[in-house]
Amino acid sequence: MASKTGIPAFSPGKNTRSVPILTESSSGQEHPECTDEAGRVVRFLEEQAHKRDQRHVNLQLVRALKLQHGQRWLEVGSGSGALCRMAALCLLPDGRLVGVDIDCGIVAISRGLLNTVTRLNCLDVLPADGQELPFSTGSFDGAFAARLLLNSDHPDEVLQEMVRVVRPEGRVLAMDWDFETFVVDHSQKELTRRILLWRADNYGSNSWSGRQLFARFRSAGLERVRLKTVVTAGYSEEDALPDALRRAAAAALTAGALSKDEHDGWVGEIQRRLAAKTFFASIIYYIACGIVPAR
Ligand SMILES: C[S@@+](CC[C@H](N)C(=O)[O-])C[C@H]1O[C@@H](n2cnc3c(N)ncnc32)[C@H](O)[C@@H]1O
Repeated sequence: MASKTGIPAFSPGKNTRSVPILTESSSGQEHPECTDEAGRVVRFLEEQAHKRDQRHVNLQLVRALKLQHGQRWLEVGSGSGALCRMAALCLLPDGRLVGVDIDCGIVAISRGLLNTVTRLNCLDVLPADGQELPFSTGSFDGAFAARLLLNSDHPDEVLQEMVRVVRPEGRVLAMDWDFETFVVDHSQKELTRRILLWRADNYGSNSWSGRQLFARFRSAGLERVRLKTVVTAGYSEEDALPDALRRAAAAALTAGALSKDEHDGWVGEIQRRLAAKTFFASIIYYIACGIVPAR
């Protein structure tokens, strides 16, 4: 697990099918500063962004931003830039969206994607740490962070910086899931609970980040804080959830929390249900929105 990105180890296989936006020629080869790790992370993020359930929740976030033509917005932790590319379209023709990411290699590749694929000149991506944003106070109409605070060691500091760079009455939004809202229909109830709870407590990022957003936004001094819940449902390999379940089981197996027989039996039923089109899983994402008070 790469803690800085929050991206799990990439396992080639079923989900390496071609991704429309990220092509071989834009996968980092032309950027000497890009590491293989950055390329792997960008590829993973692009694949995720193209999954049906992820497109649904990303669209809900972009709607919640309430972008207006001509505004200036910031995304912190922009990753491959998938959300930036969606959101920037709403700011045309004279608005501006800046994405920042702490990983220089990821920034280089996502800039390459912008230049070679989208050519949105209202959008730029820069290397920067969300805890120390290189922008003056009140310089944006709004700022958002998707799947960042749950991966951050210092979420309150990042949020405080987002509040600082947004003008009074501007909007700050964050979107995270809450892993303990992950449910899957499976015949082995106890084992399913064991795997999901083990995953929530031991693997990856802050599994309770979604439910913590309200208090976090209030503590950051934001006003009129509201949370929107988005349930994403997974029915097939077109959704991100089957792979998330397989990754959880694989991690539990590697950590010794699951025997090989338990792993194979549990994943086997998921595979059979996918083949029989009886697979169902869901998870809740939370989109928090607050208004920057007058200073
Ligand atoms: C899980 S990815 C999410 C990417 C994108 N927001 C999305 O939803 O597709 C998290 C990203 O945040 C970046 N990141 C982590 N900590 C950061 C920080 N302190 N400041 C800026 N970016 C950060 C990582 O490098 C990674 O690209």
